[in-house]
Amino acid sequence: DNEHKIIIAIDGFSGCGKSTTAKVVAKKLNYIYIDTGAMYRAVTLYFCQNNIVLDDEAQIDKALANIEIRFEYNTSSGQNVTLLNGKVVEDEIRKMYVSAKVSPVSAIPAVRKAMVAQQRQMGKGKGIVMDGRDIGTNVFPNAELKIFMEADVAVRAERRQKELAAKGQEVALQEIIDNLSQRDHQDSTRKENPLTKAIDAHTIDTTHMTIEQQSEEIVGLVESLVRC
Ligand code: DC
Repeated sequence: DNEHKIIIAIDGFSGCGKSTTAKVVAKKLNYIYIDTGAMYRAVTLYFCQNNIVLDDEAQIDKALANIEIRFEYNTSSGQNVTLLNGKVVEDEIRKMYVSAKVSPVSAIPAVRKAMVAQQRQMGKGKGIVMDGRDIGTNVFPNAELKIFMEADVAVRAERRQKELAAKGQEVALQEIIDNLSQRDHQDSTRKENPLTKAIDAHTIDTTHMTIEQQSEEIVGLVESLVRC
């Protein structure tokens, strides 16, 4: 019954476990998960591949018109994967060279405008878990449930290092700490829709929590909302 379905907005700092938690929550509730960070990463990858100059507005508008981002469910892996112009880019967009460029790209007003329009379109139905930086403050300010995730940067970096290692990418811990800190700073200080906690968001500090605990806390909040 769609009547009881809601929009869950999950925002927070880089590497707090937003997307892993959001995926588990979506599965438990039979909701659709939308990873907005993947969209900014896909744009960044396109800009890298096509040598787009970040202060050339005409070039950026042209590039944005040529970018089509989709998510597809891969039945063999059981995972949602990101497609950029029909090509699976799921692993490529998680690489460090993309992580290093994504904050400046996502600060460009034209980029945000295009992505936010698509995100609102994707989330039109209820039963959505969307994670990012400005979901509760800007994309869906009326979301029924808003979560703000934070965690100690050293713990976040260790988790990210393990994730990358599992995909065969060995990255030094310090490089990851630097990337997370820089992105947190850039994402929270940019002019356009910076990362901030919505006044009505529930904060979850995941430093000492498991994914199971995080997802259970969110599912509990959803149940208490849907009950009244
Ligand atoms: O969630 P992530 O780490 O994959 O996101 C990558 C970057 O994209 C993040 O550093 C800032 C940007 N981003 C954003 O500006 N707004 C969002 N809603 C999601 C991500």
